Amino acid sequence: MKKATKTAALVLAMAMAVSALTACGGGADQAANTAGTETANADAGQAVATKTEGVLTFGTNAEFPPFEFVAGSGVIDQYDGIDMAIAKQIAEDNGMTAAIENMEFDALLIALENGQIDAVIAGMTVDEERKESADFSTSYYTATQVMIVKEDSDIASAADMADKKICVVQGYTGEICVKDMGYSYEAFKKGTEAVMELVNGKCDVVVIDSATAQKYVDDNEGLKIVEDASAFENEEYAIAVKKGNTEMLNMINKSIEAMLADGTVSALGAQYTEAVTE
Ligand code: ARG
Repeated sequence: MKKATKTAALVLAMAMAVSALTACGGGADQAANTAGTETANADAGQAVATKTEGVLTFGTNAEFPPFEFVAGSGVIDQYDGIDMAIAKQIAEDNGMTAAIENMEFDALLIALENGQIDAVIAGMTVDEERKESADFSTSYYTATQVMIVKEDSDIASAADMADKKICVVQGYTGEICVKDMGYSYEAFKKGTEAVMELVNGKCDVVVIDSATAQKYVDDNEGLKIVEDASAFENEEYAIAVKKGNTEMLNMINKSIEAMLADGTVSALGAQYTEAVTE
């Protein structure tokens, strides 16, 4: 009995020592009185150069609810959504403030290459072509393309789009999918424009990312979502940084991974898909 108690106490002490070590990695509290101080500072990402000192500038295209949209008051200036909350947290984790540059989706990776922005957060799907011009973080969200149709539509699968008028958004993965399927389509600059075309009966189907599609269906009468998992693969959203900027990538990954592990990302997902209905 006694021996068992001693062993248990020892195990507990060891466990506490381990957790104290782990706590040093993330918390500022215990770092000061140990040799870990320098490491802690480096971990805080203070060495990572940004376009403007103390500011982490993210490029986005705020036409993509629930990830980024313009609101009366958002988490970063007028910008609100899951991505905006993530961006803000990444900056705060590293003792910086987050700034947003809102631009066309197609312009984001060019702005990154030019150094106009430090990173792109835009519900951007990682794909092979984009990987040639940027480096991507750990992914934080899995989506898929879906079809938005009128409630009485006979479209039940991707193949049913063959003789229909298809609308997509220019430069989105939805456009790439429809192009790869060999269908003709019309491309719009904004999701809302494509959806209006559908609402007005000028097109039969809009192909766009799942969570955004759900938002449009919630906001407009008479629409429904049709899924086709055999035609549309899963897509992973990630943050893009300039090719070769490993310091920036490591800094972002550290925050993203912490937010994935502690449930922040899924809580934001729930918050912006449920609570933000007008
Ligand atoms: N996930 C799609 C893509 O990467 C659409 C992203 C659109 N994002 C936006 N912020 N407008 O192509």
